[in-house]
Amino acid sequence: MVYPIVMYGDPVLRKKAQDFKEGSEEVKQLSEDMFETMYAAQGIGLAAPQIGKDVRMFVVDGSVLEDEPEMEGFKKVFINAEIVEEDEDHEEMEEGCLSIPNVREKVTRPFSIRIKYFDENWKAYDEEYEGMKARIIQHEYDHIEGVLFIDYLTPLKKRLLKGKLNDISRGDVETEYRIIAPLRK
Ligand code: NI
Repeated sequence: MVYPIVMYGDPVLRKKAQDFKEGSEEVKQLSEDMFETMYAAQGIGLAAPQIGKDVRMFVVDGSVLEDEPEMEGFKKVFINAEIVEEDEDHEEMEEGCLSIPNVREKVTRPFSIRIKYFDENWKAYDEEYEGMKARIIQHEYDHIEGVLFIDYLTPLKKRLLKGKLNDISRGDVETEYRIIAPLRK
């Protein structure tokens, strides 16, 4: 099932999401639906709050980025994830977000991370990622912590974006996918 994507301004995007009960079966269907929704919107990552669900799950698939060979096979489900280590070295890269359409800004983040999580079969992992993979994971992980990439921008950049963000919250934005806008009249 393809869900509509929740737009900036909806309170669900600002909550710290809840852990699943370990072993819960609902993660299977939900992760399938999240991949379907992400592909329909041509995203490379999607977090559960973006489909209105206050739970700690996100999915990624970087293999669609054809000019990034190291992304091959990088298709994963992250359940009850916790980032347990972050690199001291940082890197700047441009990001966008399906919940904030048509906005792209440079964001500085740790170059590598260590993350513990479960997959949809409740297999436990403890892994390290770097570069583009770490970037995608950190962006999606932020979503389950109630954080958005625009939170990292300077006050000036944020001020300049204000009108655009208001339009997005009202649903006054062009997208190729279905959306739910919190302030739509
Ligand atoms: Ni996002």
